[in-house]
Amino acid sequence: MHRIFASESAAAPGDSHEQVVLCHDRDSGLKAVIAIHSTALGPALGGTRFHAYASEEEAVQDALNLARGMSYKNALAGLDLGGGKAVIIGDPTKVKTEALLRAYGRFVQSLGGRYVTACDVGTYVADMDVIARECDYVTGRSPEYGGAGDSSVLTAFGVFQAMRACAQRRWGAPTLAGRRVGVAGVGKVGHYLVEHLLEDGATVVVTDVNQAALDRVRTAHPGIEVAADAAALIRADLDVYAPCALGGALDDATVAALTASVVCGAANNQLAHPGVEKDLADRGVLYAPDYLVNAGGVIQVADEIEGFVFERAKAKAAKIFDTTLEIFARAEADGVPPAVAADRLAEKRMADIGRLRSILLPGDRRR
Ligand code: NAI
Repeated sequence: MHRIFASESAAAPGDSHEQVVLCHDRDSGLKAVIAIHSTALGPALGGTRFHAYASEEEAVQDALNLARGMSYKNALAGLDLGGGKAVIIGDPTKVKTEALLRAYGRFVQSLGGRYVTACDVGTYVADMDVIARECDYVTGRSPEYGGAGDSSVLTAFGVFQAMRACAQRRWGAPTLAGRRVGVAGVGKVGHYLVEHLLEDGATVVVTDVNQAALDRVRTAHPGIEVAADAAALIRADLDVYAPCALGGALDDATVAALTASVVCGAANNQLAHPGVEKDLADRGVLYAPDYLVNAGGVIQVADEIEGFVFERAKAKAAKIFDTTLEIFARAEADGVPPAVAADRLAEKRMADIGRLRSILLPGDRRR
């Protein structure tokens, strides 16, 4: 079980959480965990995952891990937001009701803005609109309510910016023109990414387990190459591999078989276990850290807090290009893999900017 209260001697700086709330409403069946990892940079923003966990311990563990990840993602994305995440326990196709979502909304409201929610696996824009009937701290809402709509648009744009930075670092020019890029997973994010790549002059090879997703890409881009499956794609002759499906895409076998010299994709938690980042570096593969690369989505929903303006959010997502280059430069200077450099930069921003609140302002209360 993950430790919630890390001791002073905790090894990793991001190892402890500020607050974990268990929410229960017997009549609606709501059982939820809200985990706030850090509010050093501002309210903790992160989505609500609705999933049939095998146990309550597993749900708590997932909330803790995901909340920590959001602190790092939001910090590197340059947002004035901390990291948090919530999970609702249960099969969303069976137990999701208006009453349950609204009960959940009341618990989020009870935190007074310390946690701001959004969509995640199992929750959708329409659910956020229901939650918002009880709660002021909801993003990822429908455009009719001032929401940003589908976050995969800017997620894909951000991935493309990170990939351009990879190309700059590896081949000396910020373009994928003339490169062969393999995209594993052409769902919401992957199919937009394919469009950016083709427009930039790349050759694209795709794969997906879902025939409908493949058909959509093939209809839009007849003649696009298709690999039999992810294993075949990894072995294909590629310059760039873009995991855009599930987590854990980079394990020992994948790293050993990879032909691409750049890995840059949208999927969360791409490294199957600690140490894979070093194996990639040792094999000379340039790996752009996932939570940096895929921050376009959270940048998009975070913009809703100020009243959504697409061009402003897009400009912020474009900065993923610069941050990716900065991470590569820091990784080289410190002699560490980019994933480690990314963690260090996120921790530095949380410390440097979080510290500013120690400067007392009129109206601040100190007891
Ligand atoms: P999606 O569910 O729309 O697309 C994923 C696609 O991957 C589906 O078409 C699915 O059939 C395919 N897939 C699943 N297993 C596969 C396999 N073994 N081989 C090949 N294809 C496979 O999801 P979405 O929204 O496009 O997200 C993709 C990834 O990006 C996920 O890891 C997600 O967590 C991450 N992400 C998405 C964001 C967003 O705004 N949608 C934001 C940040 C991260």
